[in-house]
Amino acid sequence: MIKQLDISEVYSKVHLPAKVVMAVTRKPDGQFNLITLEWFMRTSIQPPMFAISVGHTRYSHDCLEDYRYFNLVFPSIQQKELLSLCGTNSGRDIDKFTAGGVEFLPGKLAKLPVLKEAAACLECEVVTQVKSGDHTIYVGQVYYSWRNDDKQLYYYPQK
Ligand SMILES: Cc1cc2nc3c(=O)[nH]c(=O)nc-3n(C[C@H](O)[C@H](O)[C@H](O)COP(=O)(O)O)c2cc1C
Repeated sequence: MIKQLDISEVYSKVHLPAKVVMAVTRKPDGQFNLITLEWFMRTSIQPPMFAISVGHTRYSHDCLEDYRYFNLVFPSIQQKELLSLCGTNSGRDIDKFTAGGVEFLPGKLAKLPVLKEAAACLECEVVTQVKSGDHTIYVGQVYYSWRNDDKQLYYYPQK
C-alpha cells in the first residue's frame, strides 16, 4: 500500500543507486576546485546542455558566480575515493586537486582542466541559471566532450 510520508523518508527509498558527477570550477584566486554532485541532468540535445544544482553554502557556488565555466566529470571506478574527498571537504579549506593527486589535461576550451582518469568529461560554459530554494541550478552549454574508453563509469554507492 502506498503511504504519504515526509519527503526525506520517501527520497531515501528512491535516490540510490545513482549516477554521480563532479564539477570542476575555478576559485577566485585562479586555483581549481572540485565538487561531488548527485543533482544534475541533461537539458538540451542541440546545443548539448547539462544542468547542475549547487547549494548556496558550497564554495563551488562562489566559484561559479565568479567564473562562468564548469567541467562536468563522469567518474571512473578508480575515482571512488576522489568522489568522497570532493563530497566531504570544501575548497575553502583544502586544495582538492593536490589532496586527490588529480592528473589533468588543459582541455580544448581550455578554461578548466579535463581529468585524465575520468570516464567522461564535458567542457561547459554557464548560459543560464535559476535559484531553486537553497540551491542554484546552473545550465551549461557543452563545447567539447571527452570519453575514456579505458575507464568504467562509477555508480554511487558501489562496493
Ligand atoms: C554523493 C554526494 C552527492 C552530493 N550531491 C550534491 C549536489 O547535488 N549538490 C550540492 O550542492 N552538493 C552535493 N553534495 C555535497 C558537496 O559535494 C559537498 O558539500 C562539498 O564538500 C562541497 O564542496 P565545496 O565547498 O568545495 O564546493 C554531495 C555530496 C555527496 C557525497
